[in-house]
Amino acid sequence: MSPIVRDATEADLPGIMAIYNEAIRNTSAVYTEQETTLADRKTWFAARTAQGYPVLVAASPGDGAVLGFATFGDFRPWPGYRHTVEHSVYIRADARGHGLGTVLVERLLERAAALGKHVMVAGIDAANPASIRLHERLGFERAGTLREVGTKFGRWLDLVFMQRVLGTPGQA
Ligand SMILES: CC(C)(COP(=O)(O)OP(=O)(O)OC[C@H]1O[C@@H](n2cnc3c(N)ncnc32)[C@H](O)[C@@H]1OP(=O)(O)O)[C@@H](O)C(=O)NCCC(=O)NCCS
Repeated sequence: MSPIVRDATEADLPGIMAIYNEAIRNTSAVYTEQETTLADRKTWFAARTAQGYPVLVAASPGDGAVLGFATFGDFRPWPGYRHTVEHSVYIRADARGHGLGTVLVERLLERAAALGKHVMVAGIDAANPASIRLHERLGFERAGTLREVGTKFGRWLDLVFMQRVLGTPGQA
């Protein structure tokens, strides 16, 4: 059975937190070694919702467990960037490689377009070929690599920016 993709609710936050913390512990997808808390996820979720930005989950059709989540926020806080968002996507370790990440980013693209956004940006660790591949397949182009801008696990990390211009023209 295919997973259900829907808007997250507060009840999904423990599942979202578990996926995020596993990625913090074991991957360089997020440049921190500090795990998040439920209180922090509640603040984050409230902020996203207040801005009218989506937090999507892919849920198991059986027990409703959160298998992945995806969201976007403002790319940068200055008004001139208001038509550009930066997104993120995380899939539970045992559910990766089955197309869930692709489905979630496809839905985010639709939501961003519906909000009149013009560009979606992904900041991806250079050592994350699955995410780079996923985004290339969805029409994102490599916009450049910032060398050694991050650090984790005792090494420097390179950040690849990818972008996709949406069909919506926005209002320049
Ligand atoms: C990156 C991530 C979101 C991808 O989600 P997913 O559901 O596993 O992705 P999908 O199955 O939709 O697609 C992954 C693609 O990458 C490919 N891929 C997987 N591992 C790969 C690797 N090591 N090298 C190259 N390509 C790889 C898959 O084959 C697939 O491409 P295909 O459909 O053309 O075969 C998921 O692995 C994840 O959550 N990782 C940890 C957190 C993370 O890195 N988040 C992204 C931060 S930018």
